[in-house]
Amino acid sequence: MTNIISGTKLASKRKEVLKEAIIKANQKYHRSPKLAVILVGNDVGSLSYVKGKEKAALEVGITIETFHYEDNITEEILENKIKELNLDDNVDGILVQLPLPKHIAQDRIIDLILPSKDVDGFHPYNVASLYLKHEGILPCTPKGVIAMLDSENITIEGKRAVVVGRSNIVGMPLAKMLLDRNATVTICHSRTKNLKDITKEADILIACLGKAKFITSDMVKDGATVIDVGVNRDKITNKLCGDVDFDNVSLKTSYITKVPGGVGPMTICCLLENTYIAYLNHFNNK
Ligand code: GUN
Repeated sequence: MTNIISGTKLASKRKEVLKEAIIKANQKYHRSPKLAVILVGNDVGSLSYVKGKEKAALEVGITIETFHYEDNITEEILENKIKELNLDDNVDGILVQLPLPKHIAQDRIIDLILPSKDVDGFHPYNVASLYLKHEGILPCTPKGVIAMLDSENITIEGKRAVVVGRSNIVGMPLAKMLLDRNATVTICHSRTKNLKDITKEADILIACLGKAKFITSDMVKDGATVIDVGVNRDKITNKLCGDVDFDNVSLKTSYITKVPGGVGPMTICCLLENTYIAYLNHFNNK
């Protein structure tokens, strides 16, 4: 029988700890941490992600303000908003929900966020900090995945880790974090030849490519740990599903995560933790 690593349960535990810490910090600093969210357009997925972030922030005592713009907003308006939030002493974190509409240069917008307020960890300064092992803000999903492995005391050091997916948001930073924990890491992608031969070697297999049920049981080693970062719609049932064919893969694994209730809640939890860290750093002039 496999063990299911529940992101919902772990996030709930960590949010309780965070909530207590914020109550104490509030007494010291006389204000709550504040997160500003920028949302452009009405993409159903983005609207739902932002709603989830708003609900979770309120649960732990983080003030959250969402600035919701129409699809046709100019880049200039968005740039001015970021500049204003950078200067606002009561704002600790700034998050721009991605993707942005095509007419807006996403990179330019992210680059404008003050690195100390970049709670997503997407700014080049924070990306470079991870690669150079300098202190910085870590991206939320990879941080959440590592926390899930640690919560079950799954050894990373010396293990073969295979990351399927090479996005800037998940695959690349997660591969670096696993490497920093002394795993032997392979990154696979859409052009990888003999993918199955590689994934079958994995002690820890991370699926973050964004293709529904792509990882099938013949691609997984007996006793592996499988972490599913995907969020997709099953074309037949229209239900939410991950990148892993859970029903079959879970028959072989030691540990596995589910979608929903796996990595998703941990991403949000780490966003809240990053906002709290940015708030503490703000008062400690870091
Ligand atoms: N869109 C999809 N995932 C993310 C995320 O982690 N952060 C932001 N800002 N946008 C996203």
